[in-house]
Amino acid sequence: MLDIQKIREDFPILKREVNGKPLVYFDNAATSQTPQVVIDAIVDYYSNYNANIHRGVHTLSQEATDAYEEARLKIQRHFNAQESHEIILTSGTTHSINLVANGFASLLKKGDEVIVSALEHHSNIVPWQMLCEKTEAILKVIPINEEGELLMDVYNDLLTTKTKLVFVNHISNALGTINPIEKIIQKAHSKGAAVLIDGAQACPHIKPDVQALDVDFYVASAHKICGPTGVGILYGKQEWLKKLPPYQGGGEMIKEVTFEKTTYADLPHKFEAGTPNIAGGIAFGVALDYMNAIGFEAIASYEKELLDFGTEQLLAIEGLKIYGTSAQKTSVISFNIEGIHPYDIGSIIDKLGIAVRTGHHCAQPIMDFYKIPGTVRASFAFYNTKEEIIKLAEAVKRAKNMLS
Ligand code: ALA
Repeated sequence: MLDIQKIREDFPILKREVNGKPLVYFDNAATSQTPQVVIDAIVDYYSNYNANIHRGVHTLSQEATDAYEEARLKIQRHFNAQESHEIILTSGTTHSINLVANGFASLLKKGDEVIVSALEHHSNIVPWQMLCEKTEAILKVIPINEEGELLMDVYNDLLTTKTKLVFVNHISNALGTINPIEKIIQKAHSKGAAVLIDGAQACPHIKPDVQALDVDFYVASAHKICGPTGVGILYGKQEWLKKLPPYQGGGEMIKEVTFEKTTYADLPHKFEAGTPNIAGGIAFGVALDYMNAIGFEAIASYEKELLDFGTEQLLAIEGLKIYGTSAQKTSVISFNIEGIHPYDIGSIIDKLGIAVRTGHHCAQPIMDFYKIPGTVRASFAFYNTKEEIIKLAEAVKRAKNMLS
């Protein structure tokens, strides 16, 4: 059992008011809130040992390097990667996916096939479309059903020996569907294809084990897991990371530079050109410690309670339809009310202190599937409460009465 009131004390922002009302923060799928320990880690870095890493012999640089590399080890343990150099620190999920897509440009040839799903965020679609334009590889799409689940039979048919790579999310940002990634990975491997899993929406709820999954690439962002923005990871099996060329050239990613020839640094530095988000990396490690101390099983079970309660409360509103009704879903409720634009609902409930996201959620193909311009999306985290959900339902009812 989680002590939610005690947990809420860890998040200074939860004490603030918005438009004269206590903040109800239900935009956790966009970014989670930040506990004081993570804020303190950032302040401590800038106050006490701000220095560039891997470069200086001086004390501050050594301290910063040690803290940054300690964070990499925490991340390695969290994701259960075999080697710490399989963890590449990036600016976030989008950066990580672009890094892999860019690398595959040198591995694919005309006529090769890659598979995406219709449930993806634009950041797991557009980089691959750019890759296909460059290489003349063919992009195939796993469709979804009305519940917002992948059609696995069609996936089986799409997979052939020409398939080189499959990239799907672990959990849909727009609908909350949890995808059967174990099966997706196993089937792809049986055809010799590699798999990248976009874990941006999964990591706030689930602790992925990359070795048990046997996944080739797994990507995520710190800011959705109580960490800071501007930092994330690419996990890659070392044989893949060795095969891929560097993404950016610059300082730190080289062994030796001459005008005739440059040789590249070993992993992970080969993919970490330039000065990284040092405070962000260190604070990411602290965020994982914080989440692990609470425990992902307890988080998932409490969030399921919030999901069930929220679903029941919202469905009691006449004319309200929920998109994404898979039995396998996390605490995301995407909905519309007949005849009302989602933006109007979002704007009115913001006046009542309630933060939700409205629109296509960077997942336009999903909205096209349902033939809607967008949804209102309420996404719950472990620091939310049932009382807040009651406020949401009341606010949505009020908005509906004003707008219809
Ligand atoms: N990907 C984030 C979301 O779903 C920004 O809102």
